[in-house]
Amino acid sequence: MKHIVILTGAGISAESGLKTFRDSDGLWEGYNIEDVATPQAWQRNPQLVQNFYNERRKAVLEASPNTAHYALARLEEKYKVTIITQNIDDLHERAGSTNVVHLHGIITRSQSSLNPKLTYPINGWYLGMDEVCELGSPLRTHVVWFGEDVPMIEPAAQICHDADIFILSGTSLAVYPAAGLINYVPRKVPKYIVDPKIPIAYMTNTTMIEAKATVGIPQLVDELLSTN
Ligand code: APR
Repeated sequence: MKHIVILTGAGISAESGLKTFRDSDGLWEGYNIEDVATPQAWQRNPQLVQNFYNERRKAVLEASPNTAHYALARLEEKYKVTIITQNIDDLHERAGSTNVVHLHGIITRSQSSLNPKLTYPINGWYLGMDEVCELGSPLRTHVVWFGEDVPMIEPAAQICHDADIFILSGTSLAVYPAAGLINYVPRKVPKYIVDPKIPIAYMTNTTMIEAKATVGIPQLVDELLSTN
């Protein structure tokens, strides 16, 4: 079975009502990244950070997968599929994709603020400051903040190296190390980019589909399912 690897970013969840990062005016829901998405922000004002991610989690739970998420899940009918996403929402999973690698974590889980390997499910949208991990340290959102390690980057690079087909959708390729993953996809592998503003990506053997994900992805999936 051929292996399709898909690297997605915020753009694939845009039509589910979840904002992208760089299309807005550099703020994330009105906040500076430095105030809510860094370890320093957590040290400085943990309650602000916790409240911010509680609001984001509420929005994620209220959002629904869109036709692009559902189309990617359909690929599993005829292909081995790995979705590597930079998104912290669970819309790929809720659309039925069964093999999703979250490079930047997932907002529906919490993690120990002492040991990032200790993660726990969050029931509902609220995570309080009084909730502690098994080591007794406060729980924080299970999201990779700016300046933190991306523990899944090596496995993700290996997955990209193993791709027979590669799809890139909904990412500006502005943030490393995630953006560097495209360099691990072998030159001969057919690649597709689906984005209304195609990002600069020095890739060979690439088909550019200048369209929103809910238009370009279902069409591409229909084509890939019909040819395999
Ligand atoms: N369909 C497809 N792509 C879209 C759509 C859409 N409807 N709307 C916007 N896009 C594209 C934009 O053209 C852009 O290329 O989605 C991309 C969004 O880019 P960013 O906002 O930079 O999001 P992303 O690439 O996921 O950011 C990467 O940066 O802030 C950090 O950790 C955060 O995971 C995030 C990382």
